[in-house]
Amino acid sequence: MNIAEPTSAVQTVYLNDYQQPAYWIDKTELEVDIYSGETFVRSRLTMRKNSSIEGAQLDLHGEGLELLEIAIDGEPLSEERYVQGPSVLSLTPETEKFVLETKVRIEPEQNTSLEGLYRSRTMYCTQCEAEGFRKITYYLDRPDVMSDFTTRVSADKSRCPVLLSNGNLVEAGSLDNGRHFATWHDPHKKPAYLFALVAGDLAKVEDSFTTCSGKQVALEIFVEEKDLGKCDHAMQSLKKSMQWDEQTYGREYDLDIFMIVAVDDFNMGAMENKGLNIFNTSCVLASPTTTTDAGFQRVEGVVAHEYFHNWSGNRVTCRDWFQLSLKEGFTVYRDSEFSADMGSRTVKRVEDVSLLRTHQFAEDAGPMAHPIRPSSYMEISNFYTLTIYEKGAEVVRMIANLLGPELFRKGTDLYFERHDGQAVTTEDFVRAMADVSGRDFSQFDNWYNQAGTPELTIVDAYDENAREYTLTVSQYTPATPECAVKKPFHIPLRMGLIGEAGELALTLADEIAEDLPEDNTDRVLEVTQTTQSFVFHNVPEKPVPSLLRNFSAPVKLKYDYSRDDLCAIVMRDSNGFTRYEAVQSLCMAAINDAMAAGEGGRFVLDERLPRVYRSLFAQAELDQAMFAYMLTLPAEGYIAEQQSEIDPQAIYQARSKVKSALAQALAGELEQTYRALSVDVEYSADAESIARRSLKNVCLSYLMDQPSDATLELCKTQFETATNMTDEIAALTAMVMSENAKAQAAAAVALSDFYVKWRDEALVVNQWFALQARNPAAGGLKRVNDLLQHEAYDSSNPNKIRAVIGGFCGGNTPNFHSLGETPEQGGYAFLAQQIQQLDAKNPQIAARLLTPLTRWRRYAPAYSQAMRSQLEALLEMPSLSPDCYEVVSKSLA
Ligand code: TRP
Ligand code: ZN
Repeated sequence: MNIAEPTSAVQTVYLNDYQQPAYWIDKTELEVDIYSGETFVRSRLTMRKNSSIEGAQLDLHGEGLELLEIAIDGEPLSEERYVQGPSVLSLTPETEKFVLETKVRIEPEQNTSLEGLYRSRTMYCTQCEAEGFRKITYYLDRPDVMSDFTTRVSADKSRCPVLLSNGNLVEAGSLDNGRHFATWHDPHKKPAYLFALVAGDLAKVEDSFTTCSGKQVALEIFVEEKDLGKCDHAMQSLKKSMQWDEQTYGREYDLDIFMIVAVDDFNMGAMENKGLNIFNTSCVLASPTTTTDAGFQRVEGVVAHEYFHNWSGNRVTCRDWFQLSLKEGFTVYRDSEFSADMGSRTVKRVEDVSLLRTHQFAEDAGPMAHPIRPSSYMEISNFYTLTIYEKGAEVVRMIANLLGPELFRKGTDLYFERHDGQAVTTEDFVRAMADVSGRDFSQFDNWYNQAGTPELTIVDAYDENAREYTLTVSQYTPATPECAVKKPFHIPLRMGLIGEAGELALTLADEIAEDLPEDNTDRVLEVTQTTQSFVFHNVPEKPVPSLLRNFSAPVKLKYDYSRDDLCAIVMRDSNGFTRYEAVQSLCMAAINDAMAAGEGGRFVLDERLPRVYRSLFAQAELDQAMFAYMLTLPAEGYIAEQQSEIDPQAIYQARSKVKSALAQALAGELEQTYRALSVDVEYSADAESIARRSLKNVCLSYLMDQPSDATLELCKTQFETATNMTDEIAALTAMVMSENAKAQAAAAVALSDFYVKWRDEALVVNQWFALQARNPAAGGLKRVNDLLQHEAYDSSNPNKIRAVIGGFCGGNTPNFHSLGETPEQGGYAFLAQQIQQLDAKNPQIAARLLTPLTRWRRYAPAYSQAMRSQLEALLEMPSLSPDCYEVVSKSLA
């Protein structure tokens, strides 16, 4: 055997280099024999030359595999016949059709990357997306190679009574030495990234679903015995998702069984493996006493997301990983619409938009910015981003809104029908939409190929004599790493005009009023050029424009609203989203005032903000969840996005000042509302109950800003008597996050009681970790280091890492951005040290933790330099993973 030179430099992969594979794998037969400490994988691949590709060389992916046997058509290959590199096995078969057999040895127990086959607590499980299958066996590990999989798993019967893989169970039985086996066959061809295998000691909850054509599907959720009581919500969510996908998209499930397995150690939320979804426990398990409302909603959303992938991802899959948003953007759009239908549509929209603006916009403005269809990457794991997922969903949403529900459904029907069983591109998706509608979506290419958030600047003019109102819209998109000068985007701008007495009818220059529908106060303007004007006729008064209703495009809107304009929108706009947005803008104005006043300066709250809130408190018909969001000040990340140079401490201080000022100004309303909503009713996770709790707890967080003794007692009482985790942890959070000394003292006691009460519930302990990591009080670095030493901490569990390190670095501005006296001190140095340690174990998680440092260029000099020097030190590390190398090197470029 020849050993190829190891490649030291990290390689960049380009979309333009895409070529079909040289071989297809028609059939994949695996035998996975699990023993304590080692696992043997036999693979039998029925292969066929792809006649459209020249050259007969076969390059199989394989990483960390110990090759024990290799044969073609039953003939063992002599060592001259193949070359083995660190990540490829090359050979040149002599025939067009053949069977390639290999046997490899792997060590799942030693696999800390949580990619490939690994052990998590009591079970063996797999994670193959994107390129983890190559850590299990030699293969063409790319999504355009789709194969028919048969998998035989064997293991010790007492250690691993449950043996699962994709598809249907075809055979099971006993073997010698206390072992047993199970053989699974998946009738649907699939790429290797959708392969899954689970072996372990698991209990299950069973249910069933009858599909629209009358087929019975067995539904099974596998968890550790102790968690059996926490599966009901996931099961109900699964059944709702199955029904919704039939009703909304005409998509029926296609196997006799659908399984979900919950694992504790998992790099992401969940994975859509065909017929055998694998979930992070945090996205399956839910019970009122241990799970917050947000947790319940996350379970529902993630169960739906993974289920919906069965069509958008599995039946129709991606040609290559540049197409990742084809399945992720579309599936996020689908799960978001599902959640909107299950709860409140406007509330869900506000949540999605907040996530996008706080985190995706920052990504789009940083060194890792990339289009939703990137054209190059070093490590694909780094591209499971908010851009691919959330911005990708926004682009699908724009298409859906431009087409309207009926045409969009026709478009998705055509897409699923045309491409069933294929591995396709985002262009194929857009083509189906164009074909059913006759619409020209060619300018949408720019949304797919250009990174960056467009800035939409709007100026208006009213001509009293001509009764004409003109909106002039210009778009500009800042340069991003892949492209400096941007072509204009096709931007749907949904809008209305607000007059003194209500909304005005809209008649554009070339329209005749009589031809327009009666309710004609809401419109989508299609902005396609760099600058464009829209002239409205018969406008009786100078209106206040209601712009970007429902956040109709993922852009930054710049219109010079006065505070009185914003008040008019809050009070008179019919669109819930723009009303929310106007309140947020009033808050932003107040925060800017506080920032302008400076640290020691006197800040006076403009009275229009509390006045608006007072009138909202009085509006009985206002959705309580909506009001809770309106009362929540813009997140620090969102505020940072608005600054030309970020001073994180100044942002934190300004936001706190506004919060205190509001707490004072609204004390009466806040307390009254809190008391009115504090009635103990049995827990239910329906939208209305969630809304009530969220409004109540937002009020509590204000009341705890500078609490009286009586208020502090109220909060302690809520903490001690709560019968659900939402209220319990909200009270605890209010104490911890308060800057008041008495509140902090109460928090210390409550935190230790909480741990004693919940120490056996890992997911609750994670919330407890995250809350302390976010504690803004001085001394945070010492506290976070103590948390890392805590008995319940586990440095190989991603949920715990995210709670403590992620919580501190992403959610604790005063402490994370404390610089320390030397470069070895301070929050940034802490993060760099943690990354260095984690990178050797789990590069995917290490690379994700880097995010806060990558934005260094946006910060004021002292912060900026300190972040940069940590990145430079990381780059010097000899053994940096490709994952971290890509992020660090691009950040410094
Ligand atoms: N496809 C998964 C989803 O539904 C994402 C995912 C799960 C993933 N685990 C992963 C991606 C590990 C990369 C690595 O969104
Ligand atoms: Zn997904």
